[in-house]
Amino acid sequence: MKPKQDWIETAKKNAAKEAVRNVKDGSVVGLGSGSTAAFAIEELGNRIKHEGLHVLGVPTSYQAFMLAVKHKIHITTLEEHTTLDLTVDGADQIDENLNLIKGMGGALAREKIVASASKKLIIVADESKKVKVLGENNQPVPIEVLPFAASYVMRKVGDAGGKPVLREGARKVGPVITDNGNFIIDAGFGPIPKPERLERELKAISGVVETGLFVKMVHSVYLGKRQGVGKLYRRIK
Ligand code: 5RP
Repeated sequence: MKPKQDWIETAKKNAAKEAVRNVKDGSVVGLGSGSTAAFAIEELGNRIKHEGLHVLGVPTSYQAFMLAVKHKIHITTLEEHTTLDLTVDGADQIDENLNLIKGMGGALAREKIVASASKKLIIVADESKKVKVLGENNQPVPIEVLPFAASYVMRKVGDAGGKPVLREGARKVGPVITDNGNFIIDAGFGPIPKPERLERELKAISGVVETGLFVKMVHSVYLGKRQGVGKLYRRIK
């Protein structure tokens, strides 16, 4: 049997490849962030090159922007296209109702804006991301905050039952600075049976720019498995 990391990389690639089949000629596509979304951007570039697709992309981060340039995907903006046909993006956790935690790559604010502007949000992930309830396995909820408000937001997140930690840079001293010039707080809440309620509560805190809870936003999920790719569709209630 292949070592764990090997099958996960293959699963991500396969999920990305299948999901990108949804892109039709003439579409405006949201380009997600993270390692799985990167495979989707690469695959979209392949389709443009080999099938002559005409597609415009709206990147959700500098990472996505640079990959789009590398793979010769023409870039557009939300100013020019306030409605997108679809977005293909990754996720950190996916629950049974296809609600998500996103933002471990720090791109949650732009990802949520681009997803909100899209007719369809298609998620690509390997099956290790699928859980029963969001917040399992100590998965925190990333929250983008104005630097000015960070300590206040941390106190309020604590009042809401969370354990907030200011995200530190990996090859930079001090806090991570997002593509929007903000900080990120990773807040552990334990299992989150009612993500909609928590999302409302967090968004009501002054200084919170966006949260990584994506509730009732997903159209479908392409889940790369050890064998093949599973497709999940959100039931609209
Ligand atoms: C970035 C994100 C990513 O989509 C999420 O972290 C998943 O990344 P990966 O595919 O590398 O596991 O939300 O802000």
